[in-house]
Amino acid sequence: MSFARSGPLSGVARVPGDKSISHRALMLSALAVGESRIEGLLEGEDVLATATAMRAMGAQIERSADAIWRVAGVGVGGLLQPGQALDMGNSGTSTRLLMGLVASHPITATFVGDASLSKRPMNRVVEPLSLMGADVTASPGGRLPLMLRGLCPAVPITYRLPVASAQVKSAVLLAGLNTPGITRVVEPVPTRDHSERMLAGFGAELTVDAEGGERHIRIRGEAELRPQQIVVPGDPSSAAFPVVAALIVPGSAVTIENVGVNPTRAGLYEVLRMMGAEIAFSNQREVGGEPVADVTACFSALSGIEVPPEIAPSMIDEFPVLFVAAAFAQGPTVMRGLEELRVKESDRITTMAEGLRAIGVRVEELPDGLIVDGTGGDPLAGGATVASKLDHRIAMSFAVAGLNCLAPVEIDDISPVATSFPGFTKLISDLQTRS
Ligand code: S3P
Repeated sequence: MSFARSGPLSGVARVPGDKSISHRALMLSALAVGESRIEGLLEGEDVLATATAMRAMGAQIERSADAIWRVAGVGVGGLLQPGQALDMGNSGTSTRLLMGLVASHPITATFVGDASLSKRPMNRVVEPLSLMGADVTASPGGRLPLMLRGLCPAVPITYRLPVASAQVKSAVLLAGLNTPGITRVVEPVPTRDHSERMLAGFGAELTVDAEGGERHIRIRGEAELRPQQIVVPGDPSSAAFPVVAALIVPGSAVTIENVGVNPTRAGLYEVLRMMGAEIAFSNQREVGGEPVADVTACFSALSGIEVPPEIAPSMIDEFPVLFVAAAFAQGPTVMRGLEELRVKESDRITTMAEGLRAIGVRVEELPDGLIVDGTGGDPLAGGATVASKLDHRIAMSFAVAGLNCLAPVEIDDISPVATSFPGFTKLISDLQTRS
């Protein structure tokens, strides 16, 4: 599919539900006693993989015609032995969080995934879950396919995160749900806190304290979760694509309504503002324990900056599209401290560097980041085919870049977009035709 130079984007749109929150909503609803109701669930492939896995372990999950999802939970401790391997598709979040859940149940599960997921490191969750008593047989290098035998009762641990990863944190907390006593995670660098918010919302006894500049999260196990009515806000990681499109296409002004702006996720907007972007939050409110706003972005003259590395965890999924924004800024944008990008759905530093070079951007790849030398707003050459490497965010980033290239940008495989953002291409074309 190809993306070509566009007239201004304008209008008001909504993006699908937050992926991180949707996974957690299904998992916790499946562990509550009684029926939960979820509105705004992301119906992308990753989240559907979580739904299928929770069904395979005993939860009843149904979607009504009005897109409300109803989940009858099995209760903490009540997960059943799945009858076959759990197919996680492309989804690292499903895999790592479900490994946590299985780890403290008396069941064995085999996790399989696609070619991208099968390259991603799982030892980061295997290590703490093994300390809690789970028995894991992984493929070489700690990869999928992997078999995990849970232990019940599991052993409560205190685990200090060696990598800034919300998935690892959440895996340990979810294992702690069915573990006697207190399971504690120490987070030297804060990461997205959706698990903490939602666990507390479901009635788990969970505390978060700042101690010596670190976050200490404690959860009391053998919890009873009460069913909830959950409203999932729009995904800020998805909203990032039309927002950056509006910033780089002359004459654009776009509002994305109902976007989650949890501070542990909203780093991109802060960085873009530092680069001179005109971005405004309006109608700020709280929905289901999460801060939400309408986000308006207008075409802006961007300037290259040095992105503070400490902001990376709050925008870890947004770097591919930030690289695109940087390609249109005046002067170099320096982004470091991003080694985690190398173990996402693809190696996002190399994949982006190769694709950006192909469409005419001057980039310097660093072991832990990228320096992008921008055009100062002029269109890029384009006229190349870029590889999405089974990575939804790579595909969408180059689609956005194509909107201000002299010759169209061809994306070899756009299908990975379905993992997180069904309706992406329609949303972009709707914003184009409204102008
Ligand atoms: C996620 C955490 C992040 C992020 C991923 C979703 C989550 O991964 O990249 O898309 O829902 O917890 P890490 O925990 O590996 O940083």
